[in-house]
Amino acid sequence: MSQTKEAWSSRMGVILAVAGSAVGLGNFLRFPGLAAQYGGGAFMIAYFTALLLIGIPIGWAEWTLGRSGGVRGYHSAPGIFHVVMQTPAGKYLGMLGFLIPVMVFMYYVYVEAWCLGYAWLAVTGKLSAGAHFGAIFASYTGIAQDGTAVHFGLESVGFWLVICYAVNFYFIYRGVSKGIELACKWGMPLLIVIALIILGRVLTLGTPDPLKPSQNVLNGLGFMWNPQDVWAGLKNPELWLAASGQIFFTLTVGFGAICCYASYLKKKDDVVLSCLTAAAANEFCEVGLGGLITVPAAFVFLGTAGIVGMGTFGLGFNVLPAVFAQMPYGNFFAFSFFTLLFLAAFTSSLSMLQPGAAFLEEGLGLARKPALALLGLISSFGTLICWWFSKDLKALDTIDFWIGTMMIYLQGFILIIVFGWSKGMGIERGWREAHEGAAMRIPRVFKFIMQWVSPVFLGIVLLMFVLNSVFGWNFSFARPHFAPTGRITDLVGSHHSDVARLAFIFILLCVGFSVLLMHLAGKRWTANPLEKQP
Ligand code: ALA
Repeated sequence: MSQTKEAWSSRMGVILAVAGSAVGLGNFLRFPGLAAQYGGGAFMIAYFTALLLIGIPIGWAEWTLGRSGGVRGYHSAPGIFHVVMQTPAGKYLGMLGFLIPVMVFMYYVYVEAWCLGYAWLAVTGKLSAGAHFGAIFASYTGIAQDGTAVHFGLESVGFWLVICYAVNFYFIYRGVSKGIELACKWGMPLLIVIALIILGRVLTLGTPDPLKPSQNVLNGLGFMWNPQDVWAGLKNPELWLAASGQIFFTLTVGFGAICCYASYLKKKDDVVLSCLTAAAANEFCEVGLGGLITVPAAFVFLGTAGIVGMGTFGLGFNVLPAVFAQMPYGNFFAFSFFTLLFLAAFTSSLSMLQPGAAFLEEGLGLARKPALALLGLISSFGTLICWWFSKDLKALDTIDFWIGTMMIYLQGFILIIVFGWSKGMGIERGWREAHEGAAMRIPRVFKFIMQWVSPVFLGIVLLMFVLNSVFGWNFSFARPHFAPTGRITDLVGSHHSDVARLAFIFILLCVGFSVLLMHLAGKRWTANPLEKQP
């Protein structure tokens, strides 16, 4: 029998937890940056296509697989795949559902700490007092030089990093319903209220500088949303890759987090409408709030020059403090904005810890405390690497690329194949199971989409992503050309980066360690199956 008796206390609780996992830094920083970069109109067409063809279908698959594994006593992706597929390979196919959340947590919590620290800088008035926003950004993030972010005072990241670790682990320790559900039940509504207040402020900014009449709110919204040459945009494969990647990242699909959360449902709890509701909440926060705040606000005060080429973090932690400093009651709005970012990040980072904790408990038979101690030890190694080797955020970026981007596509692909094609599940059974206790029926066309379209679409995205982002393919079939990108030249050759190499070796060590853990878990599960009678 499973040792875990954890469960969500209400349907609203699980929906808020999954929405909390989805709504994160991706909504308020990554999405606006991408939409502005690729031109609102075209990007949104690709974005909603990806939402319909991979985001929602793979979300349904993940919820269904999770609940199915959960009622049989397993709560981590390796365990769920093991029991659903009924083959020793299952746990290895689910391994990424352990590795991805743990490794993404390592750097995500570091950025979460920036948010909290910036909120504090806003309270003390130091954020707006520093006319040199670039200098605050550099000293806080350590982006200019390795080791420069490693301080512990209230005005540097170290203190807040410790706080973020403590708060995250405390809520995970309290458990699914008393910890995660509680945090999301309070955190999500609060986050939305704060976002609405900031949105109200941004939309009423008008034309703050009469000498620059073109820098007004309407033009700011236009800069973000006016369709430029939609057709030319849609012909750019890079835009499709960016839109698909954003869908995965923002919905937290393919991390292993949703199947872990869904595993705490009961056999007859709805998954169909719950998945849709959580996704809709995420889209509201992403398109309706994130898409209307960050970029228009920056445009109104700084114009196009303030936005273009700033990158996700530059926009959030360098440009926006400068924007708030020019607003009436700027400190209040800066504090609100970074608190909002912190809440969004916190409810997401919880969903990155729970899958790891669940696996260590059920795979190694550890009690909650030692499982969390081990998880804390593993993740703090990665966080320390990102924190110390902060120049150009090289370590963070390396882990984000290989694990937080590429492996997510791969795990999403494995997941939809297991759902639609494996012996233990397969589309017929999967479709039937998805509808058990469902509050609505999925339109029938999605049966075909889940079996055929999602895997093919995602397979193509994964292949093109690797060929382009790693091997530098120019997307041409007629005149194919390959030139290894920085991802390769960082690791091999005369221009390599020692930090990228170190981070990559660390990733390989984590992969090796995960394989070992899977092996140990497999032995335990074969000798002593956790299965409950569903
Ligand atoms: N879904 C989370 C985000 O958007 C990871 O940040």
